[in-house]
Amino acid sequence: MRNKTNSKLPPGPFPLPIVGNLFVMNNKPHKSLAKLAKIYGPILSLKLGQVTTIVVSSADLAKEILQTHDSLLSDRTVPHALTAFNHDQFGVGFLPLSPLWREMRKVCKNQLFSNKSLDANQCIRRTKIDELIGYVSQRNLKGEAIDMGKVAFRTSINMLSNTIFSVDFANNSAGTNENKENKDLVMNMAETVGKPNMADFFPLLRLIDPQGIKKTYMFYIGKLFNVFDNIIDQRLKLREEDGFFTNNDMLDSLLDIPEENRKELDREKIEHLLHDLLVGGTDTTTYTLEWAMAELLHNPNIMSKVKKELEDTIGIGNPLEESDITRLPYLQAVIKETLRLHPIAPLLLPRKAKEDVEVNGYTIPKDAQIFVNVWAIGRDPEVWDNPYLFSPERFLGTKLDIKGQNFQLTPFGSGRRICPGLPLAMRMLHMMLGSLLISFDWKLENDMKPEEIDMEDAIQGLALRKCESLRVIPTKIS
Ligand code: HEM
Repeated sequence: MRNKTNSKLPPGPFPLPIVGNLFVMNNKPHKSLAKLAKIYGPILSLKLGQVTTIVVSSADLAKEILQTHDSLLSDRTVPHALTAFNHDQFGVGFLPLSPLWREMRKVCKNQLFSNKSLDANQCIRRTKIDELIGYVSQRNLKGEAIDMGKVAFRTSINMLSNTIFSVDFANNSAGTNENKENKDLVMNMAETVGKPNMADFFPLLRLIDPQGIKKTYMFYIGKLFNVFDNIIDQRLKLREEDGFFTNNDMLDSLLDIPEENRKELDREKIEHLLHDLLVGGTDTTTYTLEWAMAELLHNPNIMSKVKKELEDTIGIGNPLEESDITRLPYLQAVIKETLRLHPIAPLLLPRKAKEDVEVNGYTIPKDAQIFVNVWAIGRDPEVWDNPYLFSPERFLGTKLDIKGQNFQLTPFGSGRRICPGLPLAMRMLHMMLGSLLISFDWKLENDMKPEEIDMEDAIQGLALRKCESLRVIPTKIS
């Protein structure tokens, strides 16, 4: 243990020469860091290669980072891969707090993710739900199991790509496959950014990109921008030919902003924003849905309760609409409980200190990287009764929410940098899960018993995913 008296850095394990404490950055860093927090306390420091890193693992300290000192701790450390095409200088997710970042966040809040805009384009997402039900019904007729992760990925990416620019990024249930390559592209991009990259820990290595990760990302992002170029060109042509043309999607909302009102948001920056929405929104919603299904199959009593609520409130055979979500408190509690136990970004996105900041008597030094271990906070017995139990009931009759005000539950982050896609993600998750539950009964493949489901997790690509895929057999409810 380092000597606390020599430095005001929080305590932490002694760093080895050169590599420091890099051993914690395996594919389960949330777990390694939670173990270290038991030894060194809820604020600890590490040396990841050459990067000083502070980890907080309690709700009180999460509040200090994400609320009290938010203005000084809201920059980001940038993965080297994301410097491809200068994405770090133009993308909302990794820009430091700056006028461009503020403008993009304002557009997200007012134009893209406002209730008014999301209500206006909900029919686009409803069509994708119909396709999902159609696809699962076909598998039901054939008596075949489905891989929940794959189905969730295809539905999530199409819901997003259609909400953003009215194009399917994955083949639909009718079997047309115009855009299969685009689906693979988004999947490969998340995988590439998620790969451990030595250049992130030893900045000098950025000069040579030893694992070629930035080069690979450059290739993918170039391809994605070509796809965006074609979509935007076609849209501009349609709008020119018909002055009243509108798809009511996010691209129309962006193009509708008069040029004099978009000070910095030119076409190039719009493409960087679209990149962040698509890459940031796909894995996150996909794997949250997979976890929710896994937990419900693992806990048949809870599955019965949530299905009953849907049957009583919506009625079998009736389509679920986004406006129904407020009438389904148990379904909402299931999603919150899933996000508590399985936060897809278990350490949030890394923050970076703009200046030295004092927290709990320790110094977070300027330029240090900061992780908030929301996975550990979600399982902290100091704040949660029976923390390992999947129990949606804990949310019933409480105001406890995931919107960044309750620091024991911040799967979307909090403060200035809270996930801007939260309102869309919540609509997508409730619609996908609710529709799958009201339309089908579910059982595990090969007569597997609920208690045999392997609930082990690991980081894959950008998200905390179930290690074993979830294979389930649907039976249509008629
Ligand atoms: C940022 C989680 C869905 C777009 C974030 C952050 C987290 C997160 C933890 C970092 C927050 C912080 O630093 O405090 C999630 C989860 C999702 C989800 C759990 C779904 C279950 C989405 C969706 C979109 C999206 C659907 C867009 C369509 C973004 C963007 C950022 C972000 C652009 C960067 C914001 C910034 O740095 O200013 N998300 N997200 N996310 N998310 Fe999400």
